Amino acid sequence: MGSNVPLFPVAASSIANDVDHLALFLLAVAAFFSVAIFATIFYFAIRYRRRSDQELPHVQHGGMLLEILWTVIPFGLTMIMFTWGASLYFQESRPPDNALPIYVVGKQWMWKIEHIEGQREINELHIPVGRAVKLTMTSEDVIHSFFVPAFRTKSDVVPGKYSTEWFTATKPGKFHLFCAEYCGNRHSGMIGWVYAMQPQDYENWLNSNPPPSTMAENGSKLFNGMGCPACHKPDGSGRCPSLVGLYGSTVHLATGNTVVADEAYIRESIVEPQAKIVAGYGSLMPTYKGQVTEEDLVQLVEYIKWLGDKSEGNKPPPGTQGEPLTIPELRGK
Ligand code: CUA
Repeated sequence: MGSNVPLFPVAASSIANDVDHLALFLLAVAAFFSVAIFATIFYFAIRYRRRSDQELPHVQHGGMLLEILWTVIPFGLTMIMFTWGASLYFQESRPPDNALPIYVVGKQWMWKIEHIEGQREINELHIPVGRAVKLTMTSEDVIHSFFVPAFRTKSDVVPGKYSTEWFTATKPGKFHLFCAEYCGNRHSGMIGWVYAMQPQDYENWLNSNPPPSTMAENGSKLFNGMGCPACHKPDGSGRCPSLVGLYGSTVHLATGNTVVADEAYIRESIVEPQAKIVAGYGSLMPTYKGQVTEEDLVQLVEYIKWLGDKSEGNKPPPGTQGEPLTIPELRGK
Protein backbone atom coordinates (compact mmCIF):
# COMPACT_ATOMS: atom_id res chain seq x y z
CA MET A 1 0.00 0.00 0.00
CA GLY A 2 1.52 3.29 1.00
CA SER A 3 2.33 4.85 -2.35
CA ASN A 4 -0.84 3.34 -3.83
CA VAL A 5 -2.94 5.52 -1.56
CA PRO A 6 -1.82 9.08 -2.20
CA LEU A 7 -2.92 11.72 0.28
CA PHE A 8 -3.83 14.04 -2.59
CA PRO A 9 -4.82 13.14 -6.15
CA VAL A 10 -2.40 14.48 -8.77
CA ALA A 11 -2.97 18.12 -9.62
CA ALA A 12 -3.50 18.29 -13.38
CA SER A 13 -5.55 21.38 -14.10
CA SER A 14 -4.90 25.11 -14.06
CA ILE A 15 -6.86 25.62 -10.85
CA ALA A 16 -5.92 22.42 -9.02
CA ASN A 17 -3.11 24.03 -7.00
CA ASP A 18 -5.30 27.00 -6.04
CA VAL A 19 -8.00 24.64 -4.77
CA ASP A 20 -5.40 22.66 -2.80
CA HIS A 21 -3.99 25.82 -1.22
CA LEU A 22 -7.44 26.91 -0.07
CA ALA A 23 -8.21 23.43 1.28
CA LEU A 24 -4.90 23.36 3.16
CA PHE A 25 -5.55 26.84 4.57
CA LEU A 26 -8.98 25.76 5.86
CA LEU A 27 -7.46 22.61 7.29
CA ALA A 28 -4.68 24.58 9.00
CA VAL A 29 -7.12 27.06 10.56
CA ALA A 30 -9.38 24.23 11.74
CA ALA A 31 -6.42 22.29 13.15
CA PHE A 32 -4.99 25.35 14.92
CA PHE A 33 -8.26 26.21 16.66
CA SER A 34 -9.06 22.59 17.53
CA VAL A 35 -5.70 22.25 19.26
CA ALA A 36 -5.93 25.70 20.88
CA ILE A 37 -9.45 25.10 22.20
CA PHE A 38 -8.74 21.64 23.61
CA ALA A 39 -5.43 22.78 25.12
CA THR A 40 -7.22 25.69 26.79
CA ILE A 41 -10.00 23.42 28.10
CA PHE A 42 -7.48 21.09 29.73
CA TYR A 43 -5.34 23.93 31.05
CA PHE A 44 -8.31 25.76 32.60
CA ALA A 45 -9.78 22.55 34.00
CA ILE A 46 -6.58 21.92 35.89
CA ARG A 47 -5.55 25.50 36.70
CA TYR A 48 -9.00 26.56 38.02
CA ARG A 49 -10.15 23.26 39.48
CA ARG A 50 -12.16 23.38 42.71
CA ARG A 51 -9.69 22.99 45.57
CA SER A 52 -12.03 22.73 48.56
CA ASP A 53 -15.73 22.07 49.14
CA GLN A 54 -16.26 25.61 50.48
CA GLU A 55 -14.57 27.34 47.59
CA LEU A 56 -16.72 29.86 45.67
CA PRO A 57 -15.66 31.08 42.26
CA HIS A 58 -14.50 34.65 41.85
CA VAL A 59 -16.91 36.27 39.43
CA GLN A 60 -15.29 38.54 36.88
CA HIS A 61 -17.18 41.06 34.74
CA GLY A 62 -15.83 42.72 31.62
CA GLY A 63 -12.73 42.11 29.56
CA MET A 64 -13.17 44.47 26.64
CA LEU A 65 -9.87 43.66 24.97
CA LEU A 66 -10.66 39.95 24.99
CA GLU A 67 -14.15 40.57 23.60
CA ILE A 68 -12.75 42.64 20.74
CA LEU A 69 -10.03 40.12 19.94
CA TRP A 70 -12.31 37.11 19.80
CA THR A 71 -14.70 39.02 17.56
CA VAL A 72 -12.23 40.68 15.20
CA ILE A 73 -9.89 37.72 14.65
CA PRO A 74 -12.58 35.18 13.65
CA PHE A 75 -14.27 37.85 11.55
CA GLY A 76 -11.04 38.54 9.68
CA LEU A 77 -10.38 34.82 9.20
CA THR A 78 -13.86 34.09 7.88
CA MET A 79 -13.65 37.07 5.52
CA ILE A 80 -10.37 35.69 4.15
CA MET A 81 -12.10 32.31 3.64
CA PHE A 82 -15.07 33.99 2.00
CA THR A 83 -13.18 36.19 -0.46
CA TRP A 84 -10.66 33.48 -1.29
CA GLY A 85 -13.36 30.83 -1.75
CA ALA A 86 -15.68 33.14 -3.71
CA SER A 87 -12.94 34.24 -6.11
CA LEU A 88 -12.04 30.59 -6.80
CA TYR A 89 -15.70 29.74 -7.20
CA PHE A 90 -16.21 32.50 -9.75
CA GLN A 91 -13.12 31.37 -11.60
CA GLU A 92 -14.41 27.79 -11.65
CA SER A 93 -17.92 28.69 -12.72
CA ARG A 94 -17.08 31.00 -15.63
CA PRO A 95 -15.71 29.18 -18.65
CA PRO A 96 -13.47 31.31 -20.87
CA ASP A 97 -15.14 32.43 -24.09
CA ASN A 98 -12.73 30.51 -26.28
CA ALA A 99 -13.13 27.22 -24.40
CA LEU A 100 -13.44 24.07 -26.49
CA PRO A 101 -17.07 22.91 -26.21
CA ILE A 102 -17.76 19.23 -25.50
CA TYR A 103 -21.15 17.76 -24.66
CA VAL A 104 -21.93 15.22 -21.93
CA VAL A 105 -25.16 13.28 -21.47
CA GLY A 106 -25.33 11.18 -18.31
CA LYS A 107 -27.66 8.25 -17.89
CA GLN A 108 -27.95 5.25 -15.60
CA TRP A 109 -25.09 4.24 -15.68
CA MET A 110 -22.77 5.72 -18.21
CA TRP A 111 -21.30 8.95 -19.52
CA LYS A 112 -22.03 9.66 -23.18
CA ILE A 113 -19.66 12.27 -24.54
CA GLU A 114 -19.69 13.99 -27.90
CA HIS A 115 -17.18 16.31 -29.55
CA ILE A 116 -18.39 19.03 -31.91
CA GLU A 117 -16.50 17.31 -34.71
CA GLY A 118 -18.87 14.39 -34.13
CA GLN A 119 -16.67 11.88 -32.28
CA ARG A 120 -18.61 10.00 -29.63
CA GLU A 121 -17.18 8.34 -26.56
CA ILE A 122 -18.60 6.39 -23.64
CA ASN A 123 -17.00 6.69 -20.21
CA GLU A 124 -13.93 8.21 -21.86
CA LEU A 125 -13.07 11.81 -22.55
CA HIS A 126 -10.13 12.82 -24.72
CA ILE A 127 -9.02 16.44 -24.37
CA PRO A 128 -6.02 18.54 -25.39
CA VAL A 129 -3.60 19.80 -22.75
CA GLY A 130 -3.27 23.58 -22.33
CA ARG A 131 -6.66 24.45 -23.77
CA ALA A 132 -9.74 25.39 -21.76
CA VAL A 133 -12.49 22.78 -22.21
CA LYS A 134 -16.11 23.57 -21.45
CA LEU A 135 -18.49 20.69 -20.82
CA THR A 136 -22.18 21.28 -21.42
CA MET A 137 -23.89 18.52 -19.48
CA THR A 138 -27.33 17.11 -18.94
CA SER A 139 -28.95 13.86 -17.82
CA GLU A 140 -31.50 11.56 -19.38
CA ASP A 141 -32.82 10.30 -16.07
CA VAL A 142 -31.63 11.19 -12.58
CA ILE A 143 -29.06 13.53 -11.08
CA HIS A 144 -25.45 12.53 -11.68
CA SER A 145 -22.30 14.47 -10.96
CA PHE A 146 -19.25 14.77 -13.20
CA PHE A 147 -16.14 14.63 -11.05
CA VAL A 148 -12.51 14.60 -12.12
CA PRO A 149 -10.46 14.69 -8.92
CA ALA A 150 -7.20 15.52 -10.73
CA PHE A 151 -8.84 18.67 -12.11
CA ARG A 152 -10.49 19.57 -8.76
CA THR A 153 -13.81 20.22 -10.50
CA LYS A 154 -17.20 18.67 -9.96
CA SER A 155 -20.62 19.65 -11.19
CA ASP A 156 -24.06 18.09 -10.89
CA VAL A 157 -25.59 16.78 -14.10
CA VAL A 158 -29.31 17.38 -13.81
CA PRO A 159 -32.21 16.19 -15.98
CA GLY A 160 -34.08 18.99 -17.72
CA LYS A 161 -31.28 21.54 -17.69
CA TYR A 162 -27.73 22.20 -18.78
CA SER A 163 -24.93 22.59 -16.32
CA THR A 164 -21.39 23.44 -17.26
CA GLU A 165 -17.97 22.57 -15.99
CA TRP A 166 -14.64 23.76 -17.37
CA PHE A 167 -10.97 23.06 -16.86
CA THR A 168 -7.62 23.43 -18.53
CA ALA A 169 -5.54 20.29 -18.24
CA THR A 170 -1.92 21.12 -17.47
CA LYS A 171 -0.26 17.76 -17.92
CA PRO A 172 -0.86 14.83 -20.21
CA GLY A 173 -2.11 11.67 -18.56
CA LYS A 174 -4.99 9.38 -17.76
CA PHE A 175 -7.21 10.65 -14.95
CA HIS A 176 -10.14 9.14 -13.08
CA LEU A 177 -13.66 10.26 -13.91
CA PHE A 178 -16.33 9.53 -11.32
CA CYS A 179 -20.04 9.98 -10.90
CA ALA A 180 -20.17 11.76 -7.56
CA GLU A 181 -23.92 11.66 -6.90
CA TYR A 182 -25.68 8.48 -5.82
CA CYS A 183 -27.81 7.60 -8.86
CA GLY A 184 -28.94 4.03 -8.40
CA ASN A 185 -27.56 0.60 -7.68
CA ARG A 186 -24.78 0.79 -10.27
CA HIS A 187 -23.68 4.31 -9.34
CA SER A 188 -20.29 3.06 -8.27
CA GLY A 189 -19.77 1.63 -11.76
CA MET A 190 -20.44 4.97 -13.47
CA ILE A 191 -16.78 5.72 -13.83
CA GLY A 192 -14.35 6.36 -16.62
CA TRP A 193 -11.15 8.02 -17.74
CA VAL A 194 -10.12 11.42 -18.96
CA TYR A 195 -7.21 11.31 -21.39
CA ALA A 196 -5.34 14.61 -21.48
CA MET A 197 -3.20 14.63 -24.60
CA GLN A 198 -0.68 16.94 -26.23
CA PRO A 199 -2.56 19.10 -28.78
CA GLN A 200 -0.99 17.24 -31.71
CA ASP A 201 -1.90 13.87 -30.21
CA TYR A 202 -5.43 15.12 -29.68
CA GLU A 203 -5.66 16.21 -33.32
CA ASN A 204 -4.38 12.80 -34.34
CA TRP A 205 -6.92 11.12 -32.10
CA LEU A 206 -9.75 13.19 -33.65
CA ASN A 207 -8.54 12.37 -37.14
CA SER A 208 -8.13 8.68 -36.40
CA ASN A 209 -11.79 8.44 -35.42
CA PRO A 210 -13.48 10.29 -38.26
CA PRO A 211 -17.21 10.45 -37.52
CA PRO A 212 -19.76 10.32 -40.34
CA SER A 213 -20.84 13.89 -39.61
CA THR A 214 -20.25 16.79 -37.25
CA MET A 215 -22.68 17.68 -34.48
CA ALA A 216 -23.79 20.78 -36.39
CA GLU A 217 -24.46 18.65 -39.48
CA ASN A 218 -26.51 16.20 -37.43
CA GLY A 219 -28.35 19.16 -35.96
CA SER A 220 -28.96 20.59 -39.41
CA LYS A 221 -30.48 17.30 -40.53
CA LEU A 222 -32.75 17.19 -37.48
CA PHE A 223 -33.68 20.85 -37.95
CA ASN A 224 -34.70 20.28 -41.53
CA GLY A 225 -36.24 16.87 -40.86
CA MET A 226 -38.56 18.26 -38.21
CA GLY A 227 -39.68 21.06 -40.49
CA CYS A 228 -38.22 23.89 -38.40
CA PRO A 229 -37.16 26.03 -41.43
CA ALA A 230 -40.82 26.45 -42.41
CA CYS A 231 -41.23 28.98 -39.62
CA HIS A 232 -37.64 29.87 -38.69
CA LYS A 233 -36.65 31.38 -42.04
CA PRO A 234 -33.03 32.55 -42.11
CA ASP A 235 -33.90 36.05 -43.36
CA GLY A 236 -36.42 36.64 -40.56
CA SER A 237 -39.42 36.67 -42.92
CA GLY A 238 -40.96 33.57 -41.29
CA ARG A 239 -43.58 33.40 -38.57
CA CYS A 240 -40.89 32.66 -36.00
CA PRO A 241 -37.61 34.45 -35.31
CA SER A 242 -34.60 33.80 -37.53
CA LEU A 243 -31.98 31.77 -35.71
CA VAL A 244 -29.08 33.18 -37.69
CA GLY A 245 -26.76 35.04 -35.36
CA LEU A 246 -28.88 34.05 -32.37
CA TYR A 247 -26.27 32.35 -30.22
CA GLY A 248 -24.61 34.71 -27.76
CA SER A 249 -26.95 37.57 -28.66
CA THR A 250 -29.32 39.34 -26.28
CA VAL A 251 -32.93 38.40 -26.98
CA HIS A 252 -35.77 40.80 -26.14
CA LEU A 253 -38.76 38.94 -24.78
CA ALA A 254 -42.46 39.72 -24.94
CA THR A 255 -42.41 40.26 -21.18
CA GLY A 256 -39.96 43.14 -21.60
CA ASN A 257 -37.11 41.15 -20.11
CA THR A 258 -34.00 40.16 -21.97
CA VAL A 259 -32.10 36.90 -22.03
CA VAL A 260 -28.72 35.94 -23.45
CA ALA A 261 -29.13 33.15 -25.99
CA ASP A 262 -26.89 30.46 -24.54
CA GLU A 263 -27.12 26.68 -24.77
CA ALA A 264 -29.66 26.49 -21.94
CA TYR A 265 -31.93 29.08 -23.59
CA ILE A 266 -31.83 27.24 -26.91
CA ARG A 267 -32.64 23.92 -25.22
CA GLU A 268 -35.49 25.44 -23.24
CA SER A 269 -36.92 27.09 -26.35
CA ILE A 270 -37.15 23.70 -28.06
CA VAL A 271 -38.69 21.67 -25.24
CA GLU A 272 -40.63 24.50 -23.62
CA PRO A 273 -41.25 27.11 -26.31
CA GLN A 274 -43.81 28.99 -24.24
CA ALA A 275 -41.35 29.73 -21.46
CA LYS A 276 -39.74 32.72 -23.17
CA ILE A 277 -41.63 34.24 -26.10
CA VAL A 278 -39.55 36.59 -28.27
CA ALA A 279 -40.94 40.13 -28.45
CA GLY A 280 -43.02 40.64 -31.56
CA TYR A 281 -43.84 36.96 -32.07
CA GLY A 282 -46.82 34.88 -31.06
CA SER A 283 -46.74 31.68 -29.04
CA LEU A 284 -47.10 29.48 -32.11
CA MET A 285 -44.45 26.89 -31.54
CA PRO A 286 -45.45 23.47 -30.21
CA THR A 287 -43.24 21.75 -27.69
CA TYR A 288 -40.78 19.18 -28.95
CA LYS A 289 -40.52 17.54 -25.54
CA GLY A 290 -40.54 13.78 -25.93
CA GLN A 291 -39.88 14.03 -29.67
CA VAL A 292 -36.21 14.82 -29.30
CA THR A 293 -33.76 13.06 -27.02
CA GLU A 294 -31.12 14.88 -24.99
CA GLU A 295 -28.60 13.69 -27.56
CA ASP A 296 -30.70 15.18 -30.38
CA LEU A 297 -30.98 18.42 -28.43
CA VAL A 298 -27.24 18.90 -28.15
CA GLN A 299 -26.94 18.40 -31.93
CA LEU A 300 -29.61 21.06 -32.49
CA VAL A 301 -27.91 23.39 -30.02
CA GLU A 302 -24.60 22.96 -31.81
CA TYR A 303 -26.26 23.62 -35.18
CA ILE A 304 -27.89 26.80 -33.92
CA LYS A 305 -24.57 27.91 -32.43
CA TRP A 306 -22.94 27.47 -35.81
CA LEU A 307 -25.70 29.50 -37.46
CA GLY A 308 -23.89 32.47 -36.05
CA ASP A 309 -21.96 32.94 -32.89
CA LYS A 310 -21.95 36.47 -31.57
CA SER A 311 -20.30 35.80 -28.25
CA GLU A 312 -16.94 37.42 -27.72
CA GLY A 313 -13.87 35.76 -29.08
CA ASN A 314 -15.81 33.71 -31.59
CA LYS A 315 -16.07 34.85 -35.16
CA PRO A 316 -19.23 33.73 -36.90
CA PRO A 317 -18.52 30.98 -39.40
CA PRO A 318 -18.66 31.91 -43.08
CA GLY A 319 -22.03 31.95 -44.74
CA THR A 320 -23.96 33.18 -41.73
CA GLN A 321 -24.80 36.64 -42.99
CA GLY A 322 -28.45 35.95 -43.65
CA GLU A 323 -27.95 32.44 -45.02
CA PRO A 324 -28.00 29.24 -43.04
CA LEU A 325 -24.88 27.17 -43.42
CA THR A 326 -24.95 24.42 -45.95
CA ILE A 327 -23.61 21.02 -45.04
CA PRO A 328 -20.36 21.44 -47.05
CA GLU A 329 -19.76 24.80 -45.36
CA LEU A 330 -20.23 23.23 -41.96
CA ARG A 331 -17.77 20.52 -42.84
CA GLY A 332 -15.22 23.02 -44.04
CA LYS A 333 -15.36 25.21 -40.94
CU1 CUA B 1 -24.46 8.59 -11.94
CU2 CUA B 1 -23.95 8.22 -9.64
